[in-house]
Amino acid sequence: MPWIKAWHVIFMVTWFAGLFYLPRLFVYHAACTDAPGLERFKVMERKLFIIMTIGAVGTAIFGIWMLAGYAWTAYHANGWLHAKLALVVALIAYHIYCWKLVLDFRRDQNRHGHVFYRWVNEFPALLLVAIVLLVVVKPF
Ligand code: HEM
Repeated sequence: MPWIKAWHVIFMVTWFAGLFYLPRLFVYHAACTDAPGLERFKVMERKLFIIMTIGAVGTAIFGIWMLAGYAWTAYHANGWLHAKLALVVALIAYHIYCWKLVLDFRRDQNRHGHVFYRWVNEFPALLLVAIVLLVVVKPF
């Protein structure tokens, strides 16, 4: 299954590129005041969200493929796998929250300042560190 694992990691990197950059766009969008600038951010956010959703779906397809192929049988008794999958659920919830923020901006209904989006940016970074440590080190 090394090919499947490689594609899993490639899609995961695509997903995280978006998870990291989208809140950056929100930071600049929240500080933007001119009409052409606002419209440009809306287009950029929508397109980036589509790319990162493709990354998320690809990551999930290849991850589930590995689970079905060998990993559930091999590791279902190990805590790290359950912890990883729980953190992946949190990541998907964050992804959906990002979609809500894209829609709020699209309707000119953003309710947060740029400092809020700088902090929002830290959440996927924490999840990335935790998930990669769990799946590579397999500590428990
Ligand atoms: C969407 C749901 C996901 C499922 C079902 C899933 C499942 C899996 C499985 C079964 C493996 C093989 C484990 C092994 O053989 O040791 C794996 C490997 C891996 N996963 Fe995921 N995963 C998912 C999401 C993620 C996410 C979000 C990340 C990163 C934040 C990630 C990072 C990795 C890495 C880096 C590996 C390779 C580990 C290694 O071989 O050393 N996965 N995943």
